[in-house]
Amino acid sequence: MKRRLLSGMTVCACLLTGTVSGQGYSADNTEDMQSLKEAYADRFMIGTAGDFPRRYSEAELENVTFHYDIVTPENCMKPQPTHSSEDNYNFDTPDDLVDWCQDNDIKVWGHTLLWHAQTGRWFFQDDGEPADRKLALRRLKRHISKVVKHYKGDVIGWDVANESIADEGDWTTENLRDYSWYKTVGPDVLTLAFKWAHEADPDAVLYYNDYNIEQGASQNTGKHASSMILLKRLLDEGAPVHGVGIQGHWHLDTNLADVEQAIENYASLGLKVSITELDVTATGDNSGSFDVQTGEGTIPEENYVKQAEVYRKLFEIFNRHADVIERVTFWGVSDTRSWRGRQNALLFTGDLEPKPAFQAVLQAAASE
Ligand code: XIL
Repeated sequence: MKRRLLSGMTVCACLLTGTVSGQGYSADNTEDMQSLKEAYADRFMIGTAGDFPRRYSEAELENVTFHYDIVTPENCMKPQPTHSSEDNYNFDTPDDLVDWCQDNDIKVWGHTLLWHAQTGRWFFQDDGEPADRKLALRRLKRHISKVVKHYKGDVIGWDVANESIADEGDWTTENLRDYSWYKTVGPDVLTLAFKWAHEADPDAVLYYNDYNIEQGASQNTGKHASSMILLKRLLDEGAPVHGVGIQGHWHLDTNLADVEQAIENYASLGLKVSITELDVTATGDNSGSFDVQTGEGTIPEENYVKQAEVYRKLFEIFNRHADVIERVTFWGVSDTRSWRGRQNALLFTGDLEPKPAFQAVLQAAASE
């Protein structure tokens, strides 16, 4: 990977200004737009996700270099694209991403090594039969060692394990998914994955990453309770877990008390916290990636006001816990680059016009 550290800050702020007339609201005072990363420079890193620079416009790339400290590859570093069959590795797209980030003085976060999704089925098969534990572990160790060593020094850390906890089940246990790695190998697959990642790059910061793991924090129930049981076990077993990624795929009625309590609970284990995939749907839905039909395709203006309010309150929470929060990463550059299609969950419209949510995030930075 190239080691050049050019400034890359040639962005014209005027590209990032304007009114959001297409959405029926206007954004004032954007002529002297402050960047998100400047606004939060004293608190935590601000990130975005995408497989840059391929298939992104100049304006989108300028938006990224202007606003963000760090990038998470949205798809290209996952097991399926990097390791599509036993002896077939492909790092072309993520290598381009790392080069582009280094050229523009942007850090990179590795995502992800151990996951049930976007992972080749070949990991779990052996001549048409299910692979046994030993074979699956040998493959996982090879995968982690190869990928982590390839990006050693180029990424600052990894989401080592992603989404291990099931959505339904017994919250008095760690409630791991009952398929994929957890079925073929068992619960120790997590400890081993963290140890192998640490061996491959002792300087990398290693995270457990999951969605909805804040849910139930106020009552010590739900997915949050399972996440606490899991993390305590991993730490007891000596797994080098340094932090927890709360993905942050949220909506207009997300329970903010749970968010704050979850951050405090993870910090009480001695762990750092990041918000790793932040988006807040403007539709009121919390439907993952699925397209939402919103009548004639318009979302009421008041939803954008409410969305801004949720973002403001979230960042006020993050500010209160800036001592343990390392990074807040948005999952995409704009509403049209979002996996949550047509739910307009991000800070910028598809035309990169700042929404009320953008102003709210900046205001939250200035408020304390
Ligand atoms: C999503 C990407 O944004 C989509 O482009 C892709 O089709 C599916 O994966 N949790 C994660 C991310 O950890 O990797 C997912 O990213 C979103 C949910």
